[in-house]
Amino acid sequence: MTDNIHPIFEQLVQRQEREDRLRQHSKVLWLTGLSGSGKSTIAKGLERKLFQEGYYPQVLDGDNIRSGISNNLSFSSDDRRENIRRIAEVSRLYLDSGIICINSFISPTFAMRKMAKEIIGKGDFVEIYINAPLEVCESRDVKGLYAKARQGKIKGFTGIDAPYEAPESPQLEIRTDELSLAASVEKIYNYITPIIAHNR
Ligand code: ADX
Repeated sequence: MTDNIHPIFEQLVQRQEREDRLRQHSKVLWLTGLSGSGKSTIAKGLERKLFQEGYYPQVLDGDNIRSGISNNLSFSSDDRRENIRRIAEVSRLYLDSGIICINSFISPTFAMRKMAKEIIGKGDFVEIYINAPLEVCESRDVKGLYAKARQGKIKGFTGIDAPYEAPESPQLEIRTDELSLAASVEKIYNYITPIIAHNR
């Protein structure tokens, strides 16, 4: 019965007011790429840089999310999709809080990233492709997972026996086999600051 519903939206502190307080436009920076491409390292570096410069960012990262809100999900295609859906919904809440969300997830398919963009809203979604060739990611093998995947100890590993569909027109592409960490962070920072700066 709509008679008994009393919406309070207009009484809540609005996103615009929060953005004014934080002196930033909230956005979701969506970092996609292979395992070992450097997403999480760049996300952490970028978060630190933005924070030092007076912005208010928050990293959401695959390994963290998968030990909490997505700890009941596997790496099947359906579960990855559900993982990305949850993350996109959480990011939308952060957006409404005026926060700059830095998301670091493989998000391996066009369809998953399209869904995330639709949930978040296309004007607030910035797709950044963290790109290093598979051979480079595999040779880094920071977590030893590629070796396990090659030995068949992990099934359905992205890039080995599960797909990764590289973005066709990301807003920004970072070649981590060519750029240092500092240069990668700087490139994203320089791209994003005109978009997020507000009353500065
Ligand atoms: S996604 O595909 O659902 O977007 P997500 O970014 O959350 O993946 O998690 C990726 C991380 O999980 C990797 O960095 C890696 O440490 C770990 N992982 C474990 N199993 C797999 C797998 N089969 N494929 C890819 N990453 C895996």
